[in-house]
Amino acid sequence: MKIEEINVDEHYGETGEVLTDTQKKRGLLIHAFQKIQKEYNYLPEEKLYELSQKLDIPLSDVYSTASFYKHFYFKPRGKNVVCVCMGTACHVRGASKVLHKLEEEFGVREGETTEDLSMTLEIVGCVGCCGLAPVVTVNEEVVGDVGPKKVNEIINNVKVEDTGN
Ligand code: FES
Repeated sequence: MKIEEINVDEHYGETGEVLTDTQKKRGLLIHAFQKIQKEYNYLPEEKLYELSQKLDIPLSDVYSTASFYKHFYFKPRGKNVVCVCMGTACHVRGASKVLHKLEEEFGVREGETTEDLSMTLEIVGCVGCCGLAPVVTVNEEVVGDVGPKKVNEIINNVKVEDTGN
């Protein structure tokens, strides 16, 4: 997203008539964050700075608004996001072993991204398919009943995906 293309009045149209300038600018932040994150996969510092300048909102306010929402990221994320469910059902059925195997294989801890940006490893609470525990999500795909064989499949798929084979 080109920050310079942001036009506060155009964004709101007639609705903007009932809003103050400050309300309009602040309301635009989330929309801008979404666009930036879609393009870069995270919110680069320089883009947040440009946004703060463009909208005349202190950088600290821009950061605090973005950090209020869990789905905005401040560090580069991997091309693949592998998420291990650590909810109760998955934990009881061996999610920790799955997590450790993935950490060992990719050389990252949970919350980290591989240096080549091929993969980000995360943990999450219940993803709502406890009957399939232990569960891992790979990007948007849910993989259930993850044992040693499926962990290896996940690892291979992420590596193949990364090399484009
Ligand atoms: S605890 Fe993992 S899906 Fe519910």
